[in-house]
Amino acid sequence: MFTSLEVCPDDPILQLMVHARADTNPLKVDLSVGIYKDDMGKTPVMDCVKAAEQRRLEQEDSKAYLGLAGDLRFNKLVTELVLGPSHAALADKRVSTIQTTGGSGAIRIAAELIKRIKPGTRVWVSDPTWANHIPLLKSAGLEIATYAYYQSGEKGVRFTEMMQDLSAGAQSGDVILLQGSCHNPCGEDLSLEQWQHLAEFVLDRGLLPFVDIAYHGISKNLDEDSLGWRHMAASVPEMLISYSGSKNFSLYRDRIGALISISPNPATAHILLTNMMNISRVVYSVPPAHGGFLIAEILEDDELRKMWMFELDQIRLRVNQMRNGLADRLQERLSSDRFEFIRDQQGMFSFLGISVEQVLSMRESHSIYLLNSSRVNIAGVTSSNIDHLVDAIVSVQP
Ligand SMILES: Cc1ncc(COP(=O)(O)O)c(C=O)c1O
Repeated sequence: MFTSLEVCPDDPILQLMVHARADTNPLKVDLSVGIYKDDMGKTPVMDCVKAAEQRRLEQEDSKAYLGLAGDLRFNKLVTELVLGPSHAALADKRVSTIQTTGGSGAIRIAAELIKRIKPGTRVWVSDPTWANHIPLLKSAGLEIATYAYYQSGEKGVRFTEMMQDLSAGAQSGDVILLQGSCHNPCGEDLSLEQWQHLAEFVLDRGLLPFVDIAYHGISKNLDEDSLGWRHMAASVPEMLISYSGSKNFSLYRDRIGALISISPNPATAHILLTNMMNISRVVYSVPPAHGGFLIAEILEDDELRKMWMFELDQIRLRVNQMRNGLADRLQERLSSDRFEFIRDQQGMFSFLGISVEQVLSMRESHSIYLLNSSRVNIAGVTSSNIDHLVDAIVSVQP
């Protein structure tokens, strides 16, 4: 039976990472995979996580399964972090949360949930969007439609075109997938006014908003980053949110995330919770405990929470420092504002807006690894490789 299967194509991002690892050029720069790196090129464990792990070692007295919803303390604290502790939906008991295996696990369960509501539901995703969004949604048999969002090498969201696409095609019962902050792959986020406009449209058209939050606190700060989705959550009767703790707690391999739903009333919220748990049961049963305990401990304890917010600030400041460094150097070397957009974008990703040939040429001549689409992980830039990177970019300019 096995021989009826065919080889799966390699994941282009992971494949590029393998090539980068095999490259022996000491000057090589890997800007492919979307993980945070410090100025030494390392992805360290946060101090707040180390401290919480110490407590876990001391406190853990059982390895028995968690329940299907995961760690209830984590669920409560992460929901308050996302919506704000006094959000009306929380006070009205209209929110249901389960712990998931990373943000990807939350998206996968959400996809199955949408399928249960209506098989083949159409989900609108931004063009471009995170490489795994479409495969995750399609694996539940959902239909995909795209709305214009960003043009490589430019500045700003194409909001007019986005609204034109949605106005022309979106129908009641469709889902619209939005990203919370630090859009992957383009680094351009909706302004609060745009969120407000969209919330009215979503309500008017009868769409279900699904917000994917994978970089909370990495754009401006935890509260400012939340303004848009909190406004949406206050405006609509129903909403889905997937949350990832991979980046902002640097817990990538511990696979911690959450799926949050907002319902019109507490009775429906209960139905949602039972469905989310029931789907989790058949996808991976119960989530792993480690990451949930750590985040709950960090969020609940004043000292650890302060430590975390400080470390999150450091991540954001370093990425912004590299953005400014790149924009300054490129402006100086090229006497042009062509790459100025890098300075203003948010989070870890930007497109350089160069051709595949230029990308391949940088790889060949300078061992710089970025995706063929020219998407770079700015967190891979350090004070020791930035000049080499700038040399490479300059070398492929006409
Ligand atoms: C936009 C977006 N959503 C979701 C995820 C999934 O994160 P996780 O690693 O927690 O599954 C990522 C990870 O890169 C992402 O960029």
